[in-house]
Amino acid sequence: MKIIICNDYAEMSAKAAEIVRDAVSGKKACLGLATGSTPEGMYDLLSSMCKKGECDFSGITTFNLDEYYPISPDDPQSYRYYMNKRFFDKINIDINSTFIPDGLAADPGIECSEYEKKIAERGGIDLQIIGIGPNGHIGFNEPDEELIPLTHVTNLASSTVEANSRFFASPDEVPKQALTMGIKTILSAGRIIVLASGSAKHKALSKMLDGKISTMCPVTMVNLHRNVTLICDKEAYYGR
Ligand code: GLP
Repeated sequence: MKIIICNDYAEMSAKAAEIVRDAVSGKKACLGLATGSTPEGMYDLLSSMCKKGECDFSGITTFNLDEYYPISPDDPQSYRYYMNKRFFDKINIDINSTFIPDGLAADPGIECSEYEKKIAERGGIDLQIIGIGPNGHIGFNEPDEELIPLTHVTNLASSTVEANSRFFASPDEVPKQALTMGIKTILSAGRIIVLASGSAKHKALSKMLDGKISTMCPVTMVNLHRNVTLICDKEAYYGR
């Protein structure tokens, strides 16, 4: 695993944005994208690079890791809304080439298998960005005795409902389920970039850096992949 330890969040975001810029410009690549607070700085930098003509998303397809279920794409808390407002509306990407599981799918099981098909039809994901939940989750693959390989419907851990309730009026309003890529979907990407900022991620990051694998800390699964880059700040790496 390649490890890049940055001084702070701004430097982490800049390094990640450079890697994405180099992976997309003038290419027909397929990007795997994440939500949460962690990639926001990277999206802002990529948006301004694109505005200045330093980055080109015209040939790019994207697949997001996950979406709450049920949730409307128009709901400001949905990941579709987040991606459109924070990123897709600001770059030169064809919105029809951006995929996020449908939070209103009538049959979520079918939606998940269709999602896998779409990824396969587009030749798989070249570069996957992931963040880490404070409990070590990736996408919405929560710590458990068993993990599911492909895109599936999942129940959110109570700690995740709690952690993500900061974006909602109250924990009661956080959807209790989600559609998420599975561990195999994530590990099938050609390259994985793990982003982590702040001391709340230190515990999960340390487990990942131990090099062992545990379903109780899903981010450790990236130790099975041959091309992973961790970009984190000092607080996440060393703790407080
Ligand atoms: C959510 C997402 C994850 C993300 C995690 C961390 O639960 N499903 O994909 O990595 O939050 O979020 P943050 O970056 O806000 O800490």
